[in-house]
Amino acid sequence: VENVGILAMETYIPSQYVDQTDLEEFDGVAAGKYTVGLGQSKMGFCSDREDINSLAMTVLHKLIEKNNIDLHDIGRLEVGTETIIDKSKSVKTFLMTLFAEAGATDIEGIDTTNACYGGTAALFNAINWVESSSWDGRKAIVVAGDIAVYGKGPARPTGGAGAVAMLVGPDAPLVFDRGVRASYMTHAYDFYKPDLASEFPFVDGKLSIKCYLSALDNCYNLFSKKMRRDQPNFKGLLSLDGMLFHSPYCKLVQKSLARMCFNDFLNTPPEDREKQFPGLSEFSNHKLEETYFDRDVEKAFMTYSQNLFEEKTKPSLNLARNVGNMYTASLYGSLASYLISKSPEELVGKKFALFSYGSGLSSTMYSIQICNDVSAGSKLQRLISSLHDSISLIDKRECVKPQTFSDLMDVRTKNYHTAPYEPSGSIAALFPGTYYLEKIDDQRRRTYGRK
Ligand code: ACO
Repeated sequence: VENVGILAMETYIPSQYVDQTDLEEFDGVAAGKYTVGLGQSKMGFCSDREDINSLAMTVLHKLIEKNNIDLHDIGRLEVGTETIIDKSKSVKTFLMTLFAEAGATDIEGIDTTNACYGGTAALFNAINWVESSSWDGRKAIVVAGDIAVYGKGPARPTGGAGAVAMLVGPDAPLVFDRGVRASYMTHAYDFYKPDLASEFPFVDGKLSIKCYLSALDNCYNLFSKKMRRDQPNFKGLLSLDGMLFHSPYCKLVQKSLARMCFNDFLNTPPEDREKQFPGLSEFSNHKLEETYFDRDVEKAFMTYSQNLFEEKTKPSLNLARNVGNMYTASLYGSLASYLISKSPEELVGKKFALFSYGSGLSSTMYSIQICNDVSAGSKLQRLISSLHDSISLIDKRECVKPQTFSDLMDVRTKNYHTAPYEPSGSIAALFPGTYYLEKIDDQRRRTYGRK
């Protein structure tokens, strides 16, 4: 099978958000810390009416409805998430309730978990299945979603929530390049969730940034090497039309693009450096592993890469900036944002790379080629217009005061393990078509409604 990739896509973002400027004031931090320092504008969040089952169901139902998907034509359903509720029972099995109505049960796939990387792992499983001898000719669906919440403190403004669903199959408008995926996996305690009584992670912020940047260095160098096997002229960033990242907060993404330029600089033969990187020769003897927090390197390469950032990366940050970290869905929210920032004509034939990072840690850089042929072109058009529709919800959300947000977080925290339980969060506040939690019974079984 040829041209395996993403055929259709759908996003879901919560209907309420808190403004990061308001949050700075409420938290008593210096004005600009969250908005300029972290690069975040708004943060989406969920009341106790929503959990990972409802989020995943909402986005899956939207994908199926909007694309008229025949449920018997789905042979694989994968979920990537790090939001845990029933531990041994997967979110995927809950999603099967939607397929039950059509009597469709022959569907492989299960949940995949490793921090923000699970969505990518799930997507690779789906792509691999379609390209494998196990494939039976049907399509796959991948759902990535999370509710990203932190305890009170400096990490809280880097929360968020959302979900993305993707239809995977052959003859796709977004084709996954083969044989060039470059991974970096190692052990680190930068962010993990050892306290099962709490929704919040243990996080070492500084270590997590160092881990993220070192994973990026490793993936980018290996990815470039693999690309050059087929295309000896591959020039890294300069040969890519877009560069998309997992976005814990937007400032880290901009620093990451600068970091890739620093890698390019170090990989350029010394005699050519001045020509390509004028005025940066003072950094010739700097080493990757000694510069994760080097202000001078960071500043110089941020300046150097400003235009590259505006062109190749910034268009992908709309959801990340206005919703926050959606964990497993973050990179795919960036993909959706990037696609709707351009017209189908501008996108045809373009190549871009994506960097996926999940603490703990696992990471991969891979690339997508946008189709050239006309028949896939119309699929691209459909994909983009459908995304426009769902991302436009970003402007229809309700802004709530930080105190209300904080109170709703307290309700979630207090009742994380309460059973039986009836949520108190507003149903009226939800967007039409949203699934919501009705109740949890004394056996902790959950039931849902759809608005
Ligand atoms: N105006 C402008 N900028 C400001 C201001 C201000 N008034 N005040 C502070 N800043 C800047 C700081 O200089 C800093 O910028 P820098 O990173 O370029 O130095 C930035 O705002 C953040 O300030 P810090 O003091 O570094 O923030 P703090 O340490 O309190 O928290 C952190 C930041 C560590 C990212 C925290 O939010 C966190 O732990 N988040 C969760 C972990 C995370 O997202 N890690 C990323 C990878 S792993 C993952 O995806 C989960």
